[in-house]
Amino acid sequence: MRTGIALLGAAASLSRAMQPNAAEPVPAPMRDLQWGQLNFLHTTDTHGWHGGHLQESQYSADWGDYVSFAAHMRKRADDEGRDLLLVDTGDRVEGNGLYDSSSPKGKYTYDIFKEQDIDIICTGNHELYHRHTADAERDQTVPNFGGKYIASNLDYIEPNTGKQVPMAQRYTKFKTKNQNITIVAFGFLFDFTGNANNTVVKPVEGVVKEDWFQQAIREKPDIFVVIGHVGVQMDEFKAIFDAIRTQNWFTPIAFFGGHAHVRDATKYDAKAFAMASGRYFETIGWMSVDGIDKKSKKGGDVSTQASVKFQRRYIDNNLLGLYHHTGLNETTFPTDHGRKVTDMIAKARKALDLDKTYGCAPQDYWMSRAPFPSNESIYTWLETQVLPDVTVNKTRKHVPRLSILNTGTIRFDIFEGPFTVDTTYIISPFTSGLNYVPDVPYFIAKKVITILNAGGPIFEGSGLDSRFLTSPEQWYRKGPRVASGHGEGKGMLLESTEQKPLGDDDDAKRPKLVSGYTTEDDIGDDGDDAEHEAISFYNVPNCIQAEIDFPEGGEEPEKVDVVFGDFITPWVVLALKFSGGDYSEKDVARYMEGSFTEAMAGWIKDNWKC
Ligand SMILES: *[C@@H]1O[C@H](CO)[C@@H](O)[C@H](O)[C@H]1NC(C)=O
Ligand SMILES: *[C@@H]1O[C@H](CO)[C@@H](O)[C@H](O)[C@H]1NC(C)=O
Ligand SMILES: *[C@@H]1O[C@H](CO)[C@@H](O)[C@H](O)[C@H]1NC(C)=O
Ligand SMILES: *[C@@H]1O[C@H](CO)[C@@H](O)[C@H](O)[C@H]1NC(C)=O
Ligand SMILES: *[C@@H]1O[C@H](CO)[C@@H](O)[C@H](O)[C@H]1NC(C)=O
Repeated sequence: MRTGIALLGAAASLSRAMQPNAAEPVPAPMRDLQWGQLNFLHTTDTHGWHGGHLQESQYSADWGDYVSFAAHMRKRADDEGRDLLLVDTGDRVEGNGLYDSSSPKGKYTYDIFKEQDIDIICTGNHELYHRHTADAERDQTVPNFGGKYIASNLDYIEPNTGKQVPMAQRYTKFKTKNQNITIVAFGFLFDFTGNANNTVVKPVEGVVKEDWFQQAIREKPDIFVVIGHVGVQMDEFKAIFDAIRTQNWFTPIAFFGGHAHVRDATKYDAKAFAMASGRYFETIGWMSVDGIDKKSKKGGDVSTQASVKFQRRYIDNNLLGLYHHTGLNETTFPTDHGRKVTDMIAKARKALDLDKTYGCAPQDYWMSRAPFPSNESIYTWLETQVLPDVTVNKTRKHVPRLSILNTGTIRFDIFEGPFTVDTTYIISPFTSGLNYVPDVPYFIAKKVITILNAGGPIFEGSGLDSRFLTSPEQWYRKGPRVASGHGEGKGMLLESTEQKPLGDDDDAKRPKLVSGYTTEDDIGDDGDDAEHEAISFYNVPNCIQAEIDFPEGGEEPEKVDVVFGDFITPWVVLALKFSGGDYSEKDVARYMEGSFTEAMAGWIKDNWKC
């Protein structure tokens, strides 16, 4: 399958696409794309990273480059009589300065995003946390994508009338451009409950029993395409699969998922295949389907013989890879449209002053690529350096305190070098501040962190899911496919894959492997388009805690202030109760003004000189 090595050398900076100050891509041994009858490109959980990863060479292409890429791929499909469809499965907002730092938020990103011609698109949970994001989705993204936007289990409450209406159409039926393959497509969101009150997320298990769905699955298309902001291992997709199969024993079904921020693929049966395409615009997913039986041609009879073949690839989003997959180079790759979009992004980044530097990180700090605790862990840095300095209020200065932060507050690693306005939103896009419960007896307060980190049964009865305390990546790594071991009271090593030898390629020509994804999914370990050196991932706790202004000499204080991110208030109140304290939300007050993210940026300004 591996047929070439992208050894294209460094791109000349004059004619290249991507953002002007983005890292140059580095060549890697490549696996080719497997074209079929019907082909897909998939993005998910882009979270505003449409400018690409400026500090990471393997993901440094931008949305404009993706526009160029898709245009070349569509042309090839047209030339060869194949079909290509583009899919996006939500969480386009929150997590990058390009979206978060404008006023209103998304001032530039909705217009940038719509430049890509996407065929099937749906909503993620991040589009729904705030009323304003859901409104923007309804007022901008839905019309921007017209008949392509699908909301199979999502309603919107119209602000003027209070009427509950579908956010967009429930499903679509269409024919592909070149082969007239008939497709019935759905667009789902997992059973999310944290949405603002201007949307209604309808549980999937109920929706599949509704009349419109039951009618849609009787439409007899050549293939069903189910897209969703749903992890491919989650029950919601299984429920949809079961419902479709009760009516269609043999029709192929292609699932595109997201939310879990992982590269993943699996089969629900021989003709139902699911893939998820990572996060933060690091990955462009590729799926191809062969052996689709054209019922329309054969008079509507369902064949049980045809064998359907699904294949998948996870494309690293960098220019060298995109050149490789299109057979083009720095001169021939960028289209006028792609360059225009790259330019829109550069202008927006400039207008938002995203490159303004607060300070320079003296080293890399990792969320899960270093054990916790350790000097390379972002959480150790927060616990030992940031929290003690920022958890300060003059009026409470005399009271020792525990400062607790859930690890999900942090969304990304910090790289050595400039820490910019953009980095701030990337690391922690949240606007949450610090709350506290004053004067808690220490014998009660000290148990809270243990309870938060044990998670599980204590919280289950209360409807609080302790998985929400961590980042999505941690949450899903704790799932079934995770290797364990290497505990020793430090971080637990989750995955470590030996790099496979490259086989028959000439060693001398082999590019040095850059570290990156070495995905193992239910299909195998050959999904990544570029071969990488494996990265080890470590488990981190739900929450971390700093002890601040404690008595000298290891003595325990009598009472402390328990300070914590406001997002975790319900968990902390419950943990205080379980520790024997008679507390309720009424005892919670604001500890200090401003958000934790602002406090962290202030700390960096004061402590990390360039
Ligand atoms: C697709 O359908 C159109 C019109 O319905 C027809 O003209 C065309 O030949 C069909 N193409 C294929 C490949 O079946
Ligand atoms: C919805 O939430 C807003 C605050 O975000 C509140 O002002 C409003 O009353 C709520 N509406 C309903 C119908 O609950
Ligand atoms: C790019 O490809 C074109 C057409 O194959 C060729 O003429 C040109 O020299 C190439 N440019 C570079 C920089 O390799
Ligand atoms: C971490 O840094 C601290 C302070 O610089 C130092 O004392 C300690 O030895 C370091 N630990 C490791 C494991 O490098
Ligand atoms: C300190 O706490 C008091 C009382 O809650 C509050 O009014 C004040 O704004 C806080 N100060 C800062 C700097 O956050």
